[in-house]
Amino acid sequence: MNSWRNRVFCEDALDGAARIPDKSVDLVIADPPYGLGKDYGNDSDKLDAADYLEWMERWIDLILPKLKDNGSLYIFLTWRYSPEVFVMLKQRMTMINEIIWDRRVPSMGGSTRRYSSVHDTIGFFAKSKDYYFELDAVRIPYDAETKKARSRSIFVGAKWLEIGYNPKDLWSVSRLHREHRERADHPTQKPLEIVERMIKASCPPGGVVLDPFMGSGTTAVAARQCGRDFVGFELNPTYCELIAARLARVEGLAGEAQLLDEGAAS
Ligand SMILES: C[S@@+](CC[C@H](N)C(=O)[O-])C[C@H]1O[C@@H](n2cnc3c(N)ncnc32)[C@H](O)[C@@H]1O
Repeated sequence: MNSWRNRVFCEDALDGAARIPDKSVDLVIADPPYGLGKDYGNDSDKLDAADYLEWMERWIDLILPKLKDNGSLYIFLTWRYSPEVFVMLKQRMTMINEIIWDRRVPSMGGSTRRYSSVHDTIGFFAKSKDYYFELDAVRIPYDAETKKARSRSIFVGAKWLEIGYNPKDLWSVSRLHREHRERADHPTQKPLEIVERMIKASCPPGGVVLDPFMGSGTTAVAARQCGRDFVGFELNPTYCELIAARLARVEGLAGEAQLLDEGAAS
């Protein structure tokens, strides 16, 4: 077994990237600090605009070589820096989609000098034109009403009606509010539904997903639930413990020390 697979390294992704061989992962899911001053228990989101963009470019150049030739990348961003980061990535990869994640924020007040921002911007990029993409794995079933409305003889047995439709580039999935059953103690935890869709579509069964900024470990949990492997990094030791606990619940791997490798390179 590869010693780096199914591990979260509790260290700076830029220091640890060398642990992972080039062209060894099928998919990168990156949810970096947004450059908006969020508190992750460290200074990682406290850079000014120029330093932030320079840092983004540095990790991108360390992480992209880890992708196989048919691999792809999803990156969570906000409107604030998505234009600059998309330009960076378009110089290195092929842009496939801009996905808008509508966080379904309830209408309660909000900004008074601008429109309230209620979405994340997700970039989907591929390393080559032959990128892996399994549409059937993420089709959305038609509801009973639509199926019934298409019950005329010309639709009977229609394959598209049975297999469902393909997701569009607007993903409307509720953010994880405080009472949500999935919610862990992390300020920008992403819903499993979103990350699982990315993995099912863009990582073959048994493949491996790399997440340089694990946070609460959503990518690791989603990968295991979908029968894929993961590898990743997280700077904050408290979040590393959170990841281990979430994974233990998924896999029954309570206390598995291999998930919290804090030192020796392997
Ligand atoms: C936006 S959050 C990721 C949230 C995650 N997707 C989830 O669902 O929980 C970014 C995370 O990156 C971590 N981080 C910031 N800089 C890092 C670095 N250089 N290496 C590794 N982790 C880092 C932060 O501590 C924070 O937990």
